[in-house]
Amino acid sequence: MKSVLLLNASPFGENARGYQLALQAISNLQAAHPGIDVIERDLAPADFGRVTPDYARAIISRVAHDSPAFFQSERLIRELEETDALIISTPMHNYTVPAVLKLWIDLVLRAGRSFGFRDGRKVGLLDDRPTVVIVASGGTVTGKATQPDHLTGYLTDVLATIGITNLRFIHVQGLAEDSNAAHSLSQGQRALDADPRFGRGLKSDVSVG
Ligand SMILES: Cc1cc2nc3c(=O)[nH]c(=O)nc-3n(C[C@H](O)[C@H](O)[C@H](O)COP(=O)(O)O)c2cc1C
Repeated sequence: MKSVLLLNASPFGENARGYQLALQAISNLQAAHPGIDVIERDLAPADFGRVTPDYARAIISRVAHDSPAFFQSERLIRELEETDALIISTPMHNYTVPAVLKLWIDLVLRAGRSFGFRDGRKVGLLDDRPTVVIVASGGTVTGKATQPDHLTGYLTDVLATIGITNLRFIHVQGLAEDSNAAHSLSQGQRALDADPRFGRGLKSDVSVG
């Protein structure tokens, strides 16, 4: 493994509680793969592109990939192409991904570029890679769930569309209750530690290069 992309979708940036687990995953990777490149993208400022009329027209009319309308989209897709592991740290917002992560998705999923078609079905055109999604939520999402979850299945489908299926979710949940937060974070920590791709006991089979 040579490089990892970290996407942080929390409005709290580096103070997000999910981000602390993401940093732990990075530090585990650095211990197992000294010199690994870490590319970090803070999505919260939403300064990485917009779904403009030009972009929307270009998407549906399938203009050339080097069209200026795809400039921001190309930059985000190339970030994925230049890395071989992915960490997404995101809160749940209204049962699903925050708007900034949805914007990233709308700029990255492009027919003929990040996914194609076979037998009428979408197939991913990017390399699969070890991926972990750390989901922080105020309420409970797994186990005795207190709410619908339109994040886990949605993000699974979105990433599969571009070819990423080596995927695991770690839920850090119930954070709205201060009394529960520390326990929830340590549960998330344990789940991360046990992950053979991002945990403390990293195995050599995560190497892809
Ligand atoms: C706009 C907004 C919507 C939210 N919607 C949900 C929700 O649907 N379910 C939930 O459990 N928490 C919801 N929350 C709470 C966040 O998921 C929670 O604050 C999370 O712990 C933040 O994690 P972080 O510290 O890693 O950023 C929402 C928060 C905001 C700001």
